[in-house]
Amino acid sequence: MYLTREEERIYNGEHGWAKQVCMKILVKLGELFGASRLIPVESAHVSGVSYKTLGDAPTDFLEALANTGGKAAVEATLNPQSLDPQHLAERLPENLVKNQLKLCEIFKKMGFETSYTCTPYYIKTPAKGAHLAWAESSAVVYANSVLGAWTNREGGPSALAAAIIGKTPDCGIHRAENRKPKILVEVKAPLEKETDYGALGIYLGKVLEDKIPFITGLGKPTPESLKQLGAALASAGMVNMFHHDGAAAKTIEKPLEKITVEPKNLQETVEELTTTSTKKPDLVFVGCPHCSLSEIREIAEKIGDKKVMEGVEFWVCTSRHIKEKAKNYVQRIEASGAKIITDTCAVVTWTDRLGVKTIITNSAKTAHYAPTLNKAEVKLASLEECLKTALKE
Ligand code: F3S
Repeated sequence: MYLTREEERIYNGEHGWAKQVCMKILVKLGELFGASRLIPVESAHVSGVSYKTLGDAPTDFLEALANTGGKAAVEATLNPQSLDPQHLAERLPENLVKNQLKLCEIFKKMGFETSYTCTPYYIKTPAKGAHLAWAESSAVVYANSVLGAWTNREGGPSALAAAIIGKTPDCGIHRAENRKPKILVEVKAPLEKETDYGALGIYLGKVLEDKIPFITGLGKPTPESLKQLGAALASAGMVNMFHHDGAAAKTIEKPLEKITVEPKNLQETVEELTTTSTKKPDLVFVGCPHCSLSEIREIAEKIGDKKVMEGVEFWVCTSRHIKEKAKNYVQRIEASGAKIITDTCAVVTWTDRLGVKTIITNSAKTAHYAPTLNKAEVKLASLEECLKTALKE
C-alpha cells in the first residue's frame, strides 16, 4: 500500500505511539482488503463505547492511547454508551457506572464529541459523496443509502484509528465500482408501518449475503422508514447499503439476479422476531435507532394527555442533541410518565439488571438482538401498538 512521506513517518513512530498504532491498524486493514492508499475522511463515528459490550481489556488500550497523545484529527462522534445520566445511572451497580464513566472520560480526553448516539447524522448531516469512517452499522447503511455519503462498516478499532489519523483505506464501498447493485429485489408485500420496513430489512439481511440490492416496491418511504429498513438489514446481514431510486438503475450494466419479497416473507419474519405474546411487558421501548425530531413530535402528539400504566416502563430513546431541540415535546412525553432516555438504548444498557424480562418494541433491530443481548423475551409491534400497551385508556 502506498504511503505518503508523512504517513510513513507516523507509521515509523515519529509522531508517537498512539498515532503509530492507529496507522498500523489502517495499513493492516488496507492491505487485507486490497487498498492502494489511504483517503481523508470528513468524519469518524466510533462504536464500542458501552462498557456493557466493551469490557476491561479494550478500556486499558483506549486509556493507553489517550495517555500517549491520541487525539481525534477529524470530527469524531461516539455511539451510545450504557448510561442515561438522568434515569439509569442511579439504578445500576456502582462498579458498572464507574467503569462506564471512566470510558467516557477517556474518549473526552481524546477530543471525541460526547454525542452518544447511533444517529450522528441528525447532529450534522454528511455531504453527499463525502468519505466517512463510521462504525455503527445502522448509521452506515443510512449514510450510504439515504444520505449518499460513502463509508464502509468500520469496526470499533478501525473507526477509532481513522478518527485519530483522519484517513481510511481506499477500499470496499469507498470505491464507486463496489457500490453498484448486484441483485434486484422486488417488494410485493405492502409496507405500511415502520415494523414492515424493519421486517423487510431482517428478511433481506438473511437472504442477500453480501450483495448490494436495488430495491423496488418501497412505495414512498419516509427517511425514518428507511432508517428502520437499514438498521434491520445491517443487523441481520453483511450488506452496508441499498439502492432504491432511479439514479442507481442507470448503473446497472447487465441483467441482475432477481428476488421477490412476498407478504408471507414479512409475516413470517415478524413471527420469528416475536418470542412472547405477553400483553403487559416490563418495558416498552421505542427509539432504535435513536428518534429523529419528527418521531419525537409524533410520539408526543399520539400520547396527548394519556398516562403510562403502573408497572410498565416506557422508554423513548434519542440523542442529547434531539432532546435539546425537542424540549416542548419532551415535556409532554415525560408528563405521561414515559422516560426520554439519552446517551444509551435498551440494547446497550443492562436492562436485565433493571429487572426487565419482556420488551415490546417497534424496532426490528432491537427485536433481533434483545433475546441474546438483553436476555429478554420480545415482541415486535408498531408504534401504535407500543403506545396502546404502555398507556392507560
Ligand atoms: Fe442505536 Fe441501540 Fe438501536 S445503539 S441502533 S438504539 S441498538
